[in-house]
Formats: sequence, structure tokens, C-alpha cells
Amino acid sequence: MDQVQILDKTFVKYIEKKDIDAACEKMAGQINEDYKNDEPILLATLNGAIIFAAELMQKLTIRCRISCIKLSSYSGTTSTNQVKQLVGLNEDISGKRVIIVEDIVDTGVTYEHMVALLKEAKVKDIAMATMAFKPTAYKKDIPVQYVGFSIPDKFVIGHGLDYDGWGRNLPDIYQLKTEN
Ligand code: IMP
Ligand code: MG
Repeated sequence: MDQVQILDKTFVKYIEKKDIDAACEKMAGQINEDYKNDEPILLATLNGAIIFAAELMQKLTIRCRISCIKLSSYSGTTSTNQVKQLVGLNEDISGKRVIIVEDIVDTGVTYEHMVALLKEAKVKDIAMATMAFKPTAYKKDIPVQYVGFSIPDKFVIGHGLDYDGWGRNLPDIYQLKTEN
């Protein structure tokens, strides 16, 4: 499938699943090395990160755990610049090393919100592991440690990423088709 139609929009294939798998493998290798003497907690952001987080976790050989948090900043294909916390943290993570796992980091509003939340929870340190990153859309100074793909500021779906809830089940990543 080189093109998919979701609601009113057409998307074209952009990153193949085999390349996502390879990027995930590479990221896991780095995390295994960087956290070899630790027991980090992966904090997956629902709903988008579930697929990538599950894949990444299975490639980790270090002792690790996973927890989930649900935040929402998007409406349709644009960021609202406001983050809603829909499911919160319900365990004590103070003193722990936390790796946030995201499907995508865009403006960084969600990430900044998570960092504030985690600092309040007195975690030991925080890192970000994201499948995709839009560097030109990113407005924050917080470093993004682990990046699968740096991509242009164009809307994408698939492999966990959605357009109004649809398209998460596509194994590949698709980019919004623009007429030109
Ligand atoms: P940020 O707060 O602007 O960094 O946006 C982060 C969240 O917005 C991500 O976790 C996604 O849920 C959503 N998002 C950002 N860009 C895209 C995209 O291109 N496709 C689908 N969702 C996106
Ligand atoms: Mg998300």
C-alpha cells in the first residue's frame, strides 16, 4: 500500500516498517549500554507510543519496567499548545531513572509538561526515547537523547501515530500528501 485514505486526507508511504525495526534495534542497543548498571522505568505516553514502546522494551536486555501516562495536545492535524493529562502516574517513581517513550516529539510542549511532572515526582533523571522527531517544529531547549528518525515538519501517521484516532495500526509510517 503506497497510499492510504483516512477520513478527508490522503497519506503516502514514508518510512517502512523494516527501517523502523532497525532504528528501534539501534536505539535499544544504546539504551542497553547507557543504562547497563541501572533499572530504568520506561514511561510510555498513551496512546501513540504503545507500539514503539512494546517493541523497544522487548529489545532491552537490562532490568527495566514500564508504566504509562496519557497526555493529549493534538486536535486533528495541529497542536493546540495545551496539554491535557488524561491518565496520571499512580506509582512512586521518586529516585528512579525514567526514560519517556514517545511516538513523536513535535513542538515539545508535551515533553516539557512531562519533565515538569517528573521533576515534581523527584525522579533521579529523565531521558527521551522517541520514534520520530521534528527538529524544525521543536521549540524547547530540553535535549532529546534517543531519536529513531528526524523528519520534516509534516503530519505523519502509522506505527502508533494517528489522525483523529485512525491509522495507528498501519505498520509503516505515512506522510500527509500535499498537492504541488
Ligand atoms: P508536541 O507536544 O507538540 O511535541 O506533540 C506531541 C504529540 O502530538 C505526540 O505525542 C503526538 O501524539 C502528537 N503529534 C505530533 N505530531 C504528530 C504527527 O505528525 N502525527 C500524529 N501525531 C502527532
Ligand atoms: Mg503521543
